[in-house]
Amino acid sequence: ATDIPNDVREVLITEEEIQAKLAEIARRIEADYAECEPLLIGVLKGAVMVVSDLSRELTIPLKMDWMAVSSYGSGTESSGVVRILKDLDTDLTGRHVLIVEDIIDSGLTLSWLKQNLESRGPASVEICTLLRKPERLKSDVPVRYVGFDVPNEFVVGYGLDYDEQYRHLRDIIVLQPHVYGGE
Ligand code: PRP
Ligand code: MN
Ligand code: MG
Repeated sequence: ATDIPNDVREVLITEEEIQAKLAEIARRIEADYAECEPLLIGVLKGAVMVVSDLSRELTIPLKMDWMAVSSYGSGTESSGVVRILKDLDTDLTGRHVLIVEDIIDSGLTLSWLKQNLESRGPASVEICTLLRKPERLKSDVPVRYVGFDVPNEFVVGYGLDYDEQYRHLRDIIVLQPHVYGGE
């Protein structure tokens, strides 16, 4: 059984640091979207916490929608070949789209998603991510809002999972290797 305190190697980013960073990003989004209502698109399931807290920090009119995508490919790494599991309910024509992610790892999911959404006639498509792993990036998709660059370690919490667990943690933590079968 999962014993959460025993599974934590290190608290990487605390709840307070996450909320302070989201407030900073929210002020920039409010300035950038003062004249046009953004459509926030959360990428299920990891982005649920970010969309939830970021949107409530925003004081401008906005709309929200969700997509679920799945990367084909072996094991835990995404391949860049993406399948839509749940599409948007919203017509993107003329909309100012802001994709919201919890983490950009290889960037392949987002690179595909941005192109897919751009083909639907939006006025603009920008990206906001709480975390980014610079060492792992394989795509040069431009990201307008980045919370934190993080090392290439197994991070979970605040929406991020390992085997669907740990999403509900308030902090972002690094897992002990024993959890995922390491040394
Ligand atoms: C994770 C994460 C990003 C994506 C990043 O989602 O939430 O969406 O992987 O990977 P990439 O930059 O290498 O493409 P995952 O596919 O694990 O689904 P989840 O959000 O439901 O956990
Ligand atoms: Mn995800
Ligand atoms: Mg995941």
